[in-house]
Amino acid sequence: MPITVVVGAQNGDEGKGKVSDIFAARADYNIRYYGGANAGHTTLNDLGEFKLHLSPCGILRGRPSILANGMVIEPNTLVEEIRYLQNRRIAVSPKLLMVSDRAHFVMPWHLLEDEAVETFSGRGGVGSTKRGIAYAYADKMRRRGFRPADFLAHSREQMATKVYDRMVQERERIHFMYGPQFYYTGGLAKAMDECIQAIYKLLPYVTRTEEVLRKALKDGAHLLFEGAQGYYLDIDFGRYPFVTSSSPCAGGIYQGAGIPPTEVPRVIGVAKVYETYVGSGPFPTEFDKDLGGFVRSRGKEFGTTTGRPRRVGWLDIPMLRTSVEANGCQEIILVKTDILSGLSPLKIAVGYQLNGGRCDYVPSTAEEHALCAPVYKEVPGWDYPLEQAKSLGEIEQNAPQLLDYARMIESQVGAKVIALSTGAHHDQTFFF
Ligand code: IMP
Repeated sequence: MPITVVVGAQNGDEGKGKVSDIFAARADYNIRYYGGANAGHTTLNDLGEFKLHLSPCGILRGRPSILANGMVIEPNTLVEEIRYLQNRRIAVSPKLLMVSDRAHFVMPWHLLEDEAVETFSGRGGVGSTKRGIAYAYADKMRRRGFRPADFLAHSREQMATKVYDRMVQERERIHFMYGPQFYYTGGLAKAMDECIQAIYKLLPYVTRTEEVLRKALKDGAHLLFEGAQGYYLDIDFGRYPFVTSSSPCAGGIYQGAGIPPTEVPRVIGVAKVYETYVGSGPFPTEFDKDLGGFVRSRGKEFGTTTGRPRRVGWLDIPMLRTSVEANGCQEIILVKTDILSGLSPLKIAVGYQLNGGRCDYVPSTAEEHALCAPVYKEVPGWDYPLEQAKSLGEIEQNAPQLLDYARMIESQVGAKVIALSTGAHHDQTFFF
């Protein structure tokens, strides 16, 4: 299949960075199709440790990398990321990094409103990453967004006037709605200047990426799509309203990158052997404080983008099965298996109790989902310190319980477990 999609099968933060990086070297193009700098991909490879927020991992491998039309891009963040990569001796040029002219920019007022809404809990805040994501997508849908194409088509003076007018208007609206304490960092003039300067630095990277990708497909190229976030943050299928404002599910590649729907990809889901979740919202299998604290610190479960502690809990099969089915995952990679070493027995939620009856699906409202009581199955854990494992044979010999755990997940969710990850480094990934 010419297209591979790596998706987060849970709530985001599954460790897709490492998996994408492993597949990136084999792909001709690497693409991000939705989201923005709310994502944080960490990868530890032969080149060192890298944290990326906007660029696909392929950039680390010298592969052409695309920020497709579905993305929302904060200009200063991308300029900084390019500088960070160049300082780390990674080549970045308009041939290697392409930004869609139809993507949308995250503008200063989007950041301001995200900050204001999150500060006023009770006014719609969901515990966002404060990267302006929801507000950039809202402007896109209201047909008032700013795109690279606009900056290419008009003079700098025309665009500067448009941006200035909006900054004034939006500041007034935000002051009216949330109070005068929210202002542009450094003041309006400075924020505007920085934003415009960053946009113009990015324009050499801008192109019609959907055409690049369709031509690549015709030429028989292999495309790797890097999902950001995770299935339960999807605007349609996630735990609304505790979701992000885009479509990180595998189906997102069609609209988010302009891929024709006749293309059928190979979809690889990445899932932790437990659940984590940043932000507000229901979490039926959440650990108690002690176990949560233990797993969080052992698993370094803190957001890459915000540093916030992640909530932690037992694996939730109704959620994973739904996500595998909806994303069309034929394969799964199980990650963070080392973190559960020494915990036995392990619990897995195989269903829910809701309103006195059994419920095997994920309810559509957060309120109903919060009422779901997990039905647990207990399985033996493994003692072996998996982070030391050097081969699959070693795991099979010393931690057969992990293989049973993986087989059980396969039978419950209907996809094949193709690899186990036992640590952050590439070498700690074992394919069957
Ligand atoms: P936003 O995307 O910043 O608007 O945040 C909306 C929700 O999605 C919040 O609960 C965030 O914590 C969550 N979120 C957004 N991006 C990620 C991600 O890459 N990993 C995990 N959670 C995320």
